[in-house]
Amino acid sequence: MNQKEQAELLLKKAREIKEKAYAPYSHFHVGAAVLYQDGTIITGVNIENVSFGATNCAERTALFTGVTQGYTNKEVVAIGVAGNTEDFLPPCSICRQVMVELCQPHTSVYLTNNKNEVLTTNVEELVPFAFSTMDM
Ligand code: THU
Repeated sequence: MNQKEQAELLLKKAREIKEKAYAPYSHFHVGAAVLYQDGTIITGVNIENVSFGATNCAERTALFTGVTQGYTNKEVVAIGVAGNTEDFLPPCSICRQVMVELCQPHTSVYLTNNKNEVLTTNVEELVPFAFSTMDM
Protein backbone atom coordinates (compact mmCIF):
# COMPACT_ATOMS: atom_id res chain seq x y z
CA MET A 1 0.00 0.00 0.00
CA ASN A 2 1.48 3.35 -1.01
CA GLN A 3 1.01 6.55 1.00
CA LYS A 4 -1.90 7.76 -1.12
CA GLU A 5 -3.78 4.48 -0.63
CA GLN A 6 -2.94 4.53 3.09
CA ALA A 7 -4.34 8.06 3.44
CA GLU A 8 -7.49 7.18 1.51
CA LEU A 9 -8.11 4.05 3.57
CA LEU A 10 -7.61 5.78 6.93
CA LEU A 11 -9.69 8.80 5.95
CA LYS A 12 -12.50 6.54 4.68
CA LYS A 13 -12.53 4.74 8.06
CA ALA A 14 -12.40 8.07 9.91
CA ARG A 15 -15.29 9.48 7.84
CA GLU A 16 -17.39 6.36 8.43
CA ILE A 17 -16.78 6.18 12.18
CA LYS A 18 -17.49 9.88 12.77
CA GLU A 19 -21.20 9.07 12.48
CA LYS A 20 -20.81 7.33 15.86
CA ALA A 21 -19.55 10.51 17.55
CA TYR A 22 -21.25 11.43 20.81
CA ALA A 23 -21.49 15.18 20.29
CA PRO A 24 -24.84 16.41 21.64
CA TYR A 25 -23.39 19.82 22.58
CA SER A 26 -21.30 20.88 19.61
CA HIS A 27 -22.92 18.65 16.97
CA PHE A 28 -19.39 18.61 15.52
CA HIS A 29 -18.71 15.00 14.61
CA VAL A 30 -15.10 13.85 14.28
CA GLY A 31 -13.63 10.45 13.48
CA ALA A 32 -10.05 9.21 13.67
CA ALA A 33 -8.36 6.05 12.43
CA VAL A 34 -4.92 4.81 13.48
CA LEU A 35 -2.95 2.28 11.43
CA TYR A 36 -0.51 -0.03 13.25
CA GLN A 37 2.40 -1.96 11.76
CA ASP A 38 0.52 -5.28 11.83
CA GLY A 39 -2.19 -3.77 9.61
CA THR A 40 -4.72 -3.26 12.39
CA ILE A 41 -6.76 -0.06 12.17
CA ILE A 42 -8.26 1.31 15.37
CA THR A 43 -10.92 3.99 15.12
CA GLY A 44 -12.26 6.56 17.56
CA VAL A 45 -14.81 9.35 17.82
CA ASN A 46 -15.21 12.46 19.94
CA ILE A 47 -17.14 11.83 23.14
CA GLU A 48 -18.54 14.96 24.77
CA ASN A 49 -19.71 15.67 28.29
CA VAL A 50 -22.08 18.21 29.84
CA SER A 51 -19.01 19.25 31.84
CA PHE A 52 -17.26 20.36 28.66
CA GLY A 53 -13.72 19.79 29.92
CA ALA A 54 -14.44 16.08 30.24
CA THR A 55 -14.81 15.82 26.46
CA ASN A 56 -12.47 13.45 24.64
CA CYS A 57 -11.47 14.07 21.03
CA ALA A 58 -11.62 11.41 18.34
CA GLU A 59 -7.82 11.24 18.00
CA ARG A 60 -7.35 10.54 21.70
CA THR A 61 -10.17 8.00 21.78
CA ALA A 62 -8.45 6.04 18.99
CA LEU A 63 -4.93 6.34 20.40
CA PHE A 64 -6.04 5.40 23.94
CA THR A 65 -7.86 2.37 22.56
CA GLY A 66 -4.63 1.40 20.78
CA VAL A 67 -2.78 1.46 24.10
CA THR A 68 -5.57 -0.57 25.67
CA GLN A 69 -5.15 -3.19 22.93
CA GLY A 70 -1.43 -3.44 23.71
CA TYR A 71 0.08 -1.30 20.92
CA THR A 72 3.12 0.89 21.58
CA ASN A 73 4.20 4.17 19.98
CA LYS A 74 6.78 2.23 17.90
CA GLU A 75 3.98 0.39 16.12
CA VAL A 76 1.94 3.40 15.00
CA VAL A 77 2.25 4.04 11.26
CA ALA A 78 -0.27 6.77 10.51
CA ILE A 79 -3.40 8.49 11.69
CA GLY A 80 -6.30 9.96 9.72
CA VAL A 81 -8.75 12.57 11.02
CA ALA A 82 -12.07 13.52 9.43
CA GLY A 83 -14.93 15.85 10.25
CA ASN A 84 -17.34 17.69 8.03
CA THR A 85 -15.45 20.93 7.55
CA GLU A 86 -14.70 23.21 4.66
CA ASP A 87 -11.06 23.49 5.69
CA PHE A 88 -8.72 20.69 6.70
CA LEU A 89 -9.62 19.75 10.29
CA PRO A 90 -6.50 20.11 12.42
CA PRO A 91 -6.05 18.15 15.67
CA CYS A 92 -6.36 20.22 18.85
CA SER A 93 -3.24 20.92 20.86
CA ILE A 94 -4.06 18.40 23.59
CA CYS A 95 -4.33 15.67 20.93
CA ARG A 96 -1.06 16.84 19.39
CA GLN A 97 0.68 16.38 22.73
CA VAL A 98 -0.88 12.92 23.06
CA MET A 99 0.45 12.13 19.55
CA VAL A 100 3.93 13.17 20.73
CA GLU A 101 3.61 10.56 23.49
CA LEU A 102 1.85 7.73 21.65
CA CYS A 103 3.13 8.09 18.07
CA GLN A 104 6.55 8.89 16.62
CA PRO A 105 7.89 12.17 15.18
CA HIS A 106 7.63 10.83 11.62
CA THR A 107 4.16 9.25 12.07
CA SER A 108 2.02 10.47 9.16
CA VAL A 109 -1.08 12.49 9.97
CA TYR A 110 -3.67 12.74 7.20
CA LEU A 111 -6.24 15.53 7.38
CA THR A 112 -9.22 16.06 5.15
CA ASN A 113 -12.12 18.39 4.37
CA ASN A 114 -15.62 18.02 2.99
CA LYS A 115 -14.27 17.94 -0.57
CA ASN A 116 -12.32 14.78 0.33
CA GLU A 117 -9.02 16.55 -0.29
CA VAL A 118 -6.02 15.29 1.66
CA LEU A 119 -3.36 17.20 3.55
CA THR A 120 -0.43 15.07 4.68
CA THR A 121 1.64 16.15 7.66
CA ASN A 122 3.36 14.41 10.56
CA VAL A 123 3.66 14.67 14.33
CA GLU A 124 6.93 16.59 14.23
CA GLU A 125 5.44 19.20 11.90
CA LEU A 126 2.34 19.53 14.08
CA VAL A 127 4.40 19.86 17.26
CA PRO A 128 7.81 21.43 16.69
CA PHE A 129 10.06 21.70 19.76
CA ALA A 130 7.86 19.17 21.58
CA PHE A 131 8.02 18.45 25.29
CA SER A 132 8.77 14.73 25.04
CA THR A 133 11.10 13.91 27.91
CA MET A 134 11.97 15.03 31.43
CA ASP A 135 15.51 13.74 30.86
CA MET A 136 16.94 17.16 30.00
N1 THU B 1 -12.68 17.55 18.22
C1 THU B 1 -12.10 16.37 17.90
O1 THU B 1 -12.62 15.29 18.25
N2 THU B 1 -10.95 16.39 17.20
C2 THU B 1 -10.38 17.51 16.67
O2 THU B 1 -9.37 17.41 15.97
C3 THU B 1 -10.97 18.82 16.95
C4 THU B 1 -12.10 18.84 17.91
C5 THU B 1 -13.97 17.54 18.93
C6 THU B 1 -13.99 17.94 20.37
C7 THU B 1 -15.41 18.42 20.55
O3 THU B 1 -16.23 17.29 20.84
C8 THU B 1 -15.80 18.95 19.20
O4 THU B 1 -14.86 18.42 18.28
C9 THU B 1 -15.80 20.48 19.11
O5 THU B 1 -14.61 21.00 19.60
